[in-house]
Amino acid sequence: MNVNTTPQALDAEYAALAAEQDKPDTQAMATETTLLNPRFYTTDFDEMDKIDVTPVRADWDKLLAQMKSDPNKGHFKKNAAWQADWDGMEPKLKREFIDFLVSSCTAEFSGCVLYKEMKRRGTNPDICELFSYMSRDEARHAGFINDALREAGVAVNLGFLTKAKKYTYFRPKFIFYATYLSEKIGYARYITIFRHLEANPEMRFHPIFLWFREWCNDEFSHGEAFALLMRTDPKLTTSFANKLWIRFFLTAVYSTMYVRDHARPEFHNALGVDIEWYDQEVYRKTSTIARQVFPVELNIDHARWMPNLRRMRDAFGQMDAAKRKGGLGGFISHKLGAAKAALAFVSLYTIPVIKQTPPVNVRLEPSY
Ligand SMILES: [Fe+2]
Ligand SMILES: [Fe+2]
Repeated sequence: MNVNTTPQALDAEYAALAAEQDKPDTQAMATETTLLNPRFYTTDFDEMDKIDVTPVRADWDKLLAQMKSDPNKGHFKKNAAWQADWDGMEPKLKREFIDFLVSSCTAEFSGCVLYKEMKRRGTNPDICELFSYMSRDEARHAGFINDALREAGVAVNLGFLTKAKKYTYFRPKFIFYATYLSEKIGYARYITIFRHLEANPEMRFHPIFLWFREWCNDEFSHGEAFALLMRTDPKLTTSFANKLWIRFFLTAVYSTMYVRDHARPEFHNALGVDIEWYDQEVYRKTSTIARQVFPVELNIDHARWMPNLRRMRDAFGQMDAAKRKGGLGGFISHKLGAAKAALAFVSLYTIPVIKQTPPVNVRLEPSY
């Protein structure tokens, strides 16, 4: 074996090792399954395939014609406005921004995989057509983010991810609640950042934010499609048990977002965004939109709302620290953290909801 032990060679070796350790492991970030990371879903595809869209036919045909026309066909291409400065980025910000992009890319790609699978396994022409347009859009979104990551030298191997990621099974109705919400929240998140940076362009530290407006219109239409699917079966949004489920998904999705966003202080700081302001803004937009189909709305101005979100965030912080600590002390601290998170969740879940009757006409257009 030929070992080069000159001081220069060792220096170079250490520098390479240090650089390697500095480089975030995006594959691990995207593959990791925790309560907070974006998940991959699978469902009962046969049941989905049996959906009859006759009760919403007129709205359905209009929405699908719009999706077929593919308004964003040429949007996800870099142009002269794309000026990314990865080297000039402060390391902590770079790390959090990469984490943000990896998590967004995973979420987009998880939609792509679920929608594509639905299209592949289905025989119902209405359902297959819808899912082919939606998987087309999500593939584009994930690809565009991955392209941005590639410039930082850390792209996610999406093919590997499809095999390595664990899949969570959800019955179709839970897919409807969760996916409807994630599409509408996606819209609200992208448009809120876009409008904020439109007013404060000096905070736009990466060009990808310039693409968010047209991008979020895709998410808006995807959400519309799920709203129509829910309308094909009134029980989904009117029965007592389902109202409790909707409330559960709203609480889970909103509180997860709060905890995740708080894990990226540098990122929000660089954007000039106060995380609590941003999250409340996103909840407000999402809840207003969701009146189109959900009979209940969370009261995000209730006195118990914010304190319990903060409690939840602290509990997750404790669990994280306990995991790193390990041993018996870590184990106990982790269990205590989990109990605190569960209590905070119960407290959020039991805040009295605002009840309403969704309008006869379900369709909406993006208006923020
Ligand atoms: Fe998307
Ligand atoms: Fe989407």
